[in-house]
Amino acid sequence: MKKVFITTPIFYVNDIPHIGHAYTSIVCDVLARFYSLKDYEVKFITGTDEHGLKVEKAANEKKINPQSFVDKISSNFMELTRTLKITNTDFIRTTQNRHKNAVINFWKKLLENNQIYLDNYEGWYSVKDETFYQEKELIKKDGEFFTQDGGEVEWIKEESYFFKLSAWEKKLLDYYEKNPEFILPKSRSNEVISFVKQGLKDLSISRNSFTWGIQVPNNPEHIIYVWIDALTNYLSVLGYPNFDESSDKYWENSIHVIGKDILKFHAIYWPSMLMAAGLNPPKKIFAHGWWTNEGKKISKSLGNTIDPNLLVQKYGLDQLKYFLLREVPLGQDGDFSENAFINRVNADLSNSLGNLVQRTIKFSNKHFKNEFPSELNEDSLECEVLKKGYSLIINFEKKMIAFEFHKAIDEIWKFIYRLNQFIDKVEPWATIKKDRNLTALNISILIEALRLIGILIAPIIPESSNNILNILNIDKDKRSFKFYSKKYFIKKGKKINEPKQIFPRISI
Ligand code: MSP
Repeated sequence: MKKVFITTPIFYVNDIPHIGHAYTSIVCDVLARFYSLKDYEVKFITGTDEHGLKVEKAANEKKINPQSFVDKISSNFMELTRTLKITNTDFIRTTQNRHKNAVINFWKKLLENNQIYLDNYEGWYSVKDETFYQEKELIKKDGEFFTQDGGEVEWIKEESYFFKLSAWEKKLLDYYEKNPEFILPKSRSNEVISFVKQGLKDLSISRNSFTWGIQVPNNPEHIIYVWIDALTNYLSVLGYPNFDESSDKYWENSIHVIGKDILKFHAIYWPSMLMAAGLNPPKKIFAHGWWTNEGKKISKSLGNTIDPNLLVQKYGLDQLKYFLLREVPLGQDGDFSENAFINRVNADLSNSLGNLVQRTIKFSNKHFKNEFPSELNEDSLECEVLKKGYSLIINFEKKMIAFEFHKAIDEIWKFIYRLNQFIDKVEPWATIKKDRNLTALNISILIEALRLIGILIAPIIPESSNNILNILNIDKDKRSFKFYSKKYFIKKGKKINEPKQIFPRISI
């Protein structure tokens, strides 16, 4: 079986989970479900990033020890995976021993490969971003320096270990050139390349002015820089340093999904360090865009964070997922507005898909005794609608693999519109009295088309997929992609269940 390894960034535990965190997780979950339906063995990891000065400060402010603090907040993120029904196969916490062990071994490997040296760091640091900045990357206001998004920076001067990042400049550029799909979308890849071309400086990779983190082997005064600690989670979940054949196979097909804000760490620092430690870079890095709330940046200080738990409670999980994935092309920024949300859900889910299921199944059950009305056979493939349906999966898969989720969804919905037109054209309510056989055939075509839709929407809106396939009484083990185009026709007389309303209309 083919293997794929899918990761979310691990979440900082200084904050409560909001829509941005939910988005990253949902995007990965869609990929994980998609590859499972294609019969891949999927390892899908998420978790929490629990060390560093930012977390230490947040715990101090609350006057609790860092470990209790991270235990509490990490559990909020774990809870979110349940609310969102995320299919992660593991949850990594950077305070776990398996992770600390991996980080220490990774460090030792870099040291052994002569990639680390001790020196002094003097320069700017942002605790909020846990990032060292060069002055040219900052903005100056009233004599003070700030990050591009207005965050505070502090001047630090301390002894520090350095990673020889500058030595990897050329090798990185070669790697990007040889692997044009390594960083996606393409525009992000171009950004990274031009950043690297401006020259890379060695990277400070330890701090010695606080204690909440993993100590540098043989020099406990130093805490390993939180980004090295965090990035290594992608290896610790695979059992590093004890990689076996299975770990290698997962790593060969690894996909890191991240937000655009953390691209530099993933696309520059991480591959250089991996190569420096004798490992290959991940297969792909996909950077998605950011969500704003009614046009405004989402931030704790503005008090405008959107709680995904509340949205799920109020509108439903699939409704939330559908909106986030359909409204905005993955990779671009998006604006969350309740109006846009309601309009999108009512139009696409309640009106188009929900109605199609209701009108087809209600009519069928009423006139054909809750049974699949007519045998479909090779001749049915002459029907344009079904032909279109069977070929749909090819484009759908292409778009999904290319991370063009909104286009993949659009393919399905074009088919749904077409089916609604098909019912209007064949008018079963008018033909039922005159030609029962023809009506039975048309309704069976529609039900078979609903089976196809039920399978295709499974990675995106899995609960609704289950609802539809349950109504159609499709066996649980015949819902993966391999049953899609096999002309696996529902047999005449098979029981069809009563349709329950899948997407109630949201009133404004
Ligand atoms: N801990 C680091 C990641 C380490 S990975 C080795 C981190 N954590 S985070 O909690 O700040 O962010 C986690 C993810 O949430 C990032 O991918 C980030 O881009 C995403 N988002 C946070 N706010 C967001 C929006 N408003 N919109 C979309 N995604 C955003 O960075």
